[in-house]
Amino acid sequence: MASAKLVILTGAGISAESGLSTFRDAGGIWAQHAVEDVATPDGFARDPDLVHWFYNARRQAAADVSPNAAHHALARLEREHKGEVVIITQNVDALHEAAGSALVIHMHGALSGALCATCDYRWPAPLAMHTNDPCPACAAPTARPDVVWFGETPYQMEAIWSHLEEADIFAAIGTSGNVYPAAAFAQHAGRAGAHTVELNLEASANVRDFAELRHGPAGVTVPPWVDELLNQ
Ligand code: APR
Repeated sequence: MASAKLVILTGAGISAESGLSTFRDAGGIWAQHAVEDVATPDGFARDPDLVHWFYNARRQAAADVSPNAAHHALARLEREHKGEVVIITQNVDALHEAAGSALVIHMHGALSGALCATCDYRWPAPLAMHTNDPCPACAAPTARPDVVWFGETPYQMEAIWSHLEEADIFAAIGTSGNVYPAAAFAQHAGRAGAHTVELNLEASANVRDFAELRHGPAGVTVPPWVDELLNQ
């Protein structure tokens, strides 16, 4: 399996040990904010100030933290493994890139991006965005964070399904398995022939879709898993 194709889905749990909150754990982000207020197009239309405030806080939090042992192990895997290593992340932080991973698909967008809701132009987001910030391309006062909200289609899905179908090994790290389409990736990759591994603090909602389970904090479980892959 020296040249195996490895496809790795990551979620909020991989960034937890860096100090970023997860969504659905006790005290997580969705215990403190209503999804429909801050993470939907309707919420943004109703109260853009609140949505910008929410993402500005998250952008600031993400700017203040560093990658942990799990991010570093995945970057090392990409550097040292002979086959392709693709990271598909649901996270909007940039911790995989900060650790040195190059092939990272941000299926739920990124805090580092701004998007014009009128003309779809994209540009780098400032640390704080504000309601009525003008689009640099069309000047419409409709700048929004370039993150995928509930009810919107995640990015690069065609490429993602292809990667899943080509995977020899599919791993999901730090994701609760509650949000589709990401929650369907293990089943999709497994049916296409991949060996499927869950590395999560605890059993996820779709634990039955995985052939191998490694439960515990990502900073503890991911580095030895990477060592094993590189020594195979
Ligand atoms: N190591 C590994 N896993 C962890 C750790 C840790 N240190 N800490 C928490 N976890 C696990 C939790 O047990 C949980 O199963 O990470 C998972 C985090 O789940 P969620 O909070 O639901 O995050 P995620 O799966 O990434 O959410 C998916 O939901 O709201 C949306 O767009 C948002 O991308 C996000 C999507």
